[in-house]
Amino acid sequence: MTTPVLRVESLCKSFGGVHAIRDLSFDVSEAQILGLIGPNGSGKSTTVNSLAGLFPITSGAITLGGARIDGMAEYDRVAHGLSRTFQTASTFAEFTVREHVVLGCNVTRSSHPLSSVFGIGRKAGEEEALARRVDQILEITDLMQVQDHRVGTISSAQQRFLMIATALASNPKVILLDEPAAGLVSHERKTLSDLIKKIRDLGTSVLVIEHHMALIMEVCDRIVVLNFGQKIAEGTPEEIRNNPVVIDAYLGEAA
Ligand SMILES: Nc1ncnc2c1ncn2[C@@H]1O[C@H](COP(=O)(O)OP(=O)(O)OP(=O)(O)O)[C@@H](O)[C@H]1O
Ligand SMILES: [Mg+2]
Repeated sequence: MTTPVLRVESLCKSFGGVHAIRDLSFDVSEAQILGLIGPNGSGKSTTVNSLAGLFPITSGAITLGGARIDGMAEYDRVAHGLSRTFQTASTFAEFTVREHVVLGCNVTRSSHPLSSVFGIGRKAGEEEALARRVDQILEITDLMQVQDHRVGTISSAQQRFLMIATALASNPKVILLDEPAAGLVSHERKTLSDLIKKIRDLGTSVLVIEHHMALIMEVCDRIVVLNFGQKIAEGTPEEIRNNPVVIDAYLGEAA
């Protein structure tokens, strides 16, 4: 038994009278790809937003690397090793691709965000380590050839990969990906699934929300299925594919 890197226990989140998440528990193990699937409005984004700290949860506990993070501010969770991307791309158009990734490396509140881009307050050794890390990230996200291009000029698929690259820059224990395949065509989805596996193989666990079933079934080690804010199934892709409750609630409709 490996200890989970991320543990969600009895998570509840209500918006006024809407119970978006009810009593949700699951674990993400070290170097594991966990998929979170379910119909529209089943609570997937609410789960990711609760983990990332976009809003306070109603009740429950979230533990990362043994530390309770559910009371922490968003940036403290990033500093503790939880990084995320959004369902829609959000980037800074005027930065170069490389600068944008470097920006993601600065996760502590004590320094100004732009100090990372301009290298203020870093020692020579740190500078080199950072450059190597950024190179590795640009390499695996397939962005090396556009590293000096302005973010506003790269393709929308490259912008999506850049969001993942920026989230990886803080060297997270867990990365949360909300619909990373949205808007990608077939060969770009292949690049994405290769990237997700590379992220895991480099030691970062991945929690991925996705409607694209072929991608989910191909990359995930385990899958959690939500319906109306509750977990209705959990298992390997094979178990989920053949689970009658899941087929009834979701896969039937998706197929
Ligand atoms: N900020 C909010 N205020 C009020 N209700 C919300 C809010 N965010 C989500 N909800 C409600 O919570 C429920 C779960 O929504 P959520 O966005 O988490 O679903 P989802 O599984 O991500 O859906 P999709 O597949 O469409 O992205 C829905 O009923 C939604 O209307
Ligand atoms: Mg969503």
